[in-house]
Amino acid sequence: MGIFDKIFGSKGLEFTDTIKVDMHNHLLFGVDDGAKVVEDSIDLIQGMIALGRKKIIMTPHIMSDFYKNGPENLLPQLDILRAKIKELGIDIELEVAAEYYLDEVFMKQIESGEKLLTFGKNYLLFETAFMNEPPQLKTVIFEMKSNGIKPVFAHPERYLYLHSHFSKYESLFERDICFQLNIMSLSGYYSPEIKKIAEKLIDAKMVHFISSDCHNLKHLEALKASVKTKYYKKVLDLPLLNNSLL
Ligand SMILES: [Fe+2]
Repeated sequence: MGIFDKIFGSKGLEFTDTIKVDMHNHLLFGVDDGAKVVEDSIDLIQGMIALGRKKIIMTPHIMSDFYKNGPENLLPQLDILRAKIKELGIDIELEVAAEYYLDEVFMKQIESGEKLLTFGKNYLLFETAFMNEPPQLKTVIFEMKSNGIKPVFAHPERYLYLHSHFSKYESLFERDICFQLNIMSLSGYYSPEIKKIAEKLIDAKMVHFISSDCHNLKHLEALKASVKTKYYKKVLDLPLLNNSLL
């Protein structure tokens, strides 16, 4: 039994999805807390294909203390995975970008104008700590935009420091940054509160991209439940930018 059948059942999803590009996931093996070995990448890629994806932009963590990734190690790793995909005859387009964690190193990289791992029309995916609002958040957004980078805020629904006042989301949204919602948030995978905020963002039409943030097979299972929710159908009605990345 292949991974497609194991996760999605022999009849597949029985759901027509229009999203062709996943732009936030940890499918590149051996570089962060996502896929460990090349076989993990292959299994997860098969799962993405089952969801209807044609292109996967992989976004390994870059975090100064834990994941010291950069173009120098990620691009050769992408070449290895592409070669494996070709050898197996799997039809999927693969790219690599990154999920930058807002820390001092990232601030310096932005300030110096260093070439970073962006995707599409110079989009850059970034995340912050979950509990406390980083004091540099608004500054770094300003700096990115001044450097011609389009900031994409990873999973805004997951930050506890934003939960108490929805106006904080509106204030960030008005800064002309993109919001990327995690599909798994819609099934309550992270928490009921995160699900509630994700739904509120959808109702307010404050979502530009949706993506899997998939790290492992457990996440594939959660994705299966999430794409069956009422709010997944609702988010697909928004003018999402995923397919502009094809
Ligand atoms: Fe992520």
